[in-house]
Amino acid sequence: MIKLAVLGCGRIGQMHARNVSNHPDFSLAAVYDVNKEFGEKIANELNVPLVSDDKEIFEDKEIDAVLIASPTDTHIEFIEKSVATNKPVYCEKPIDLDILKVNECAKRLKANKVPIHLGFNRRFDPGHVEAKEVLKSGEIGDLHQVLITSRDPGLPSWEYYQAAGGLLRDMTIHDFDISRFMLDEDPIKVFAITNALIEPKLKTELNDADTVMIIMETASGKQCHINNSRSSAYGYDQRIELVGNKGMVLSDNKKINNVRKFSSNGETTSVVEHFFLERYYDAFMNGLSSFASCIKNNTAPEVGFEDGRKALLLAEAAYESLKTHQMINVNYD
Ligand SMILES: NC(=O)c1ccc[n+]([C@@H]2O[C@H](COP(=O)([O-])OP(=O)(O)OC[C@H]3O[C@@H](n4cnc5c(N)ncnc54)[C@H](O)[C@@H]3O)[C@@H](O)[C@H]2O)c1
Repeated sequence: MIKLAVLGCGRIGQMHARNVSNHPDFSLAAVYDVNKEFGEKIANELNVPLVSDDKEIFEDKEIDAVLIASPTDTHIEFIEKSVATNKPVYCEKPIDLDILKVNECAKRLKANKVPIHLGFNRRFDPGHVEAKEVLKSGEIGDLHQVLITSRDPGLPSWEYYQAAGGLLRDMTIHDFDISRFMLDEDPIKVFAITNALIEPKLKTELNDADTVMIIMETASGKQCHINNSRSSAYGYDQRIELVGNKGMVLSDNKKINNVRKFSSNGETTSVVEHFFLERYYDAFMNGLSSFASCIKNNTAPEVGFEDGRKALLLAEAAYESLKTHQMINVNYD
């Protein structure tokens, strides 16, 4: 069993702590949160030690690995502490909001061999994985287009927007990553439009948006379209279409169950899973399995630091496109 500690016990940290304690490859060794109340809640629920300083985790030789689920601006510091103490690390996305800081960190970690697994959980969703397997089998022929829809079920709080660092680096970052996973190639051109159609003051007060469309192109000419919304009237909408010259494969929304009801009003089916904690439960667990496997087999993480850096570079290119109204050539240096 890999003894793992969770840093940050908020919305996603609590989920990770529960998942880690239910995962056959891990045991939850400790949790830490600067806000003792949040830490205590999950420590009591799972009956694990709560430490009062992250030092207690990094200096503990009995702890094998760490999972960073604290706010984005703490990720680089915790990644570097994990590497310095030789503890493989699972870090939530994004690495940071500032690409310059990420590039500086990449330079400092150039010779690093400690696994850094990035929390791009969608790569491990069974439907998305199966869609990619269908593509690889040749069933839909040569890939021409990837279409990614990602719409949240409802608006977050104003405080959330203020801390999130903008739609493209916070939310679309998942789609930039999954586009690279599906295309199996780096997009080299990006064009973006955004608007605040749902919450207009996002634009006027935070220069942010709630609705986005992106188009991208790879060197071989494959096309990708991403559309995001911070709120969707019909629930969490997560679909990916891969279109080839011989067919199309769709990784569809996940419904709560398979019940279909028939009445004078016609047919209704079950609603979709509420939000990411439910929709991507399997993906989060499979992501942990992948992390465990890279630790046990001494292999590189399936999704690592460089993937996090490249996703952020695509977000940077999209912001540049918004400013200039031009198609931007992506520079991956
Ligand atoms: N993969 C995904 O789908 C996904 C979903 C949500 C959030 N995230 C990412 O996870 C991270 C956390 O997001 P969240 O929504 O859980 O935030 P949150 O605000 O709910 O939780 C963050 C927690 O970290 C604690 N914290 C703050 N500073 C800390 C520090 N220095 N050390 C330890 N704990 C500290 C806070 O007290 C809080 O409890 C963010 O980077 C976010 O982008 C990823």
